[in-house]
Amino acid sequence: MRISGWGKYLPARVMPNSEVAELVDTSDEWIRARTGIRERRIAAPEETTCSLAVNAARAALDKAQVAPEDLDLVLVATCTPDYANMPATASLVQHALGAPRAAAVDMNAVCSGFIYALATGSQFVATGAYKNVLVIGAEVFTRILDWQDRSTCVLFGDGAGAVVLQPTNQPGGLISFVLGSDGAGACSLYVPAGGSRQPASADSVADRAHYVKMLGRDVFRFATRVLPDSVVEALAAASMTTDDIDVLIPHQANTRIIDHAVKRLHVDASLVFSNVERYGNTSAASIPVALCEAIECGMVRPGATVVLSGFGAGLSWGTVVWKWHA
Ligand code: UT7
Repeated sequence: MRISGWGKYLPARVMPNSEVAELVDTSDEWIRARTGIRERRIAAPEETTCSLAVNAARAALDKAQVAPEDLDLVLVATCTPDYANMPATASLVQHALGAPRAAAVDMNAVCSGFIYALATGSQFVATGAYKNVLVIGAEVFTRILDWQDRSTCVLFGDGAGAVVLQPTNQPGGLISFVLGSDGAGACSLYVPAGGSRQPASADSVADRAHYVKMLGRDVFRFATRVLPDSVVEALAAASMTTDDIDVLIPHQANTRIIDHAVKRLHVDASLVFSNVERYGNTSAASIPVALCEAIECGMVRPGATVVLSGFGAGLSWGTVVWKWHA
């Protein structure tokens, strides 16, 4: 199989750290030193996860020269769907694109979502069941941020990235993957209300319980352990080592997490792509957006071994080893 098309969409509005510092007691220096983030994008009021996803998807379909009518499957990885419960954002995307033949479903593994969706979509192509699969990671994460909570609101941003998967008789595609979950850490990073456990009520709104809560240090410890571990495990499953990595694209959560993992993996920093400085953590969108930019800047060469690795709420993690087509 191959990734025959890729696309991204970032909302136009840039919010620099200095603007966040007008809302909560923080500073550009603190945010840059602890996270590496300088600015993030904020969706316009009329934009939604669906509209971001559609923009990224159209770019990917154009690149792949695939007509929406020929799509077999639309997977949308998101934790900020247009509607809290139903329908799936993927159905909205499928309709907006004009892809009547396509099955459509959301996948929520939060920041690991795109890796889960990429591994899943690849199975349909590998088995021959589907020929044109669209995998999207899209978030309007800033709508679930508490702009009074400095421990979370400085970290996240909005965006979308998409890829088209197609069969090919050339070698390449998904070489191996590792997907994991540890629900014991569910409350390290979560939105307490709005689901069946704590349905929306006047009290839940008054308690600001519809916003993200995070135990930052716990997530940091988890991320710095699981990112290198899952990369090594996925490479081992492909009978490879870190020496075989041509490009490493980690989830763009925090420069310190990425640096920590790179050090533990003994990977040359020049092989690691990062754009967290410009977009912050865009959750499920971070890896496909980073992949697009790594391709655009020439880092992903024909035949390259590209390792994509995500981690996040769940807790969840996932790594894919992908052989880029020649
Ligand atoms: O996709 C996964 C998403 N999640 C993550 O990637 C989060 C992983 N965690 C982290 O990246 C880090 O834990 C943070 C960047 C969130 C926080 O950095 P930290 O070095 O772990 O800081 P901390 O939570 O230990 O807090 C240190 C101090 C505290 O003050 P005191 O108690 O030492 O006086 C915090 O109140 O920094 C304070 N603080 C802030 N100060 C200025 C926390 N947030 C801020 C802030 N601005 N935004």
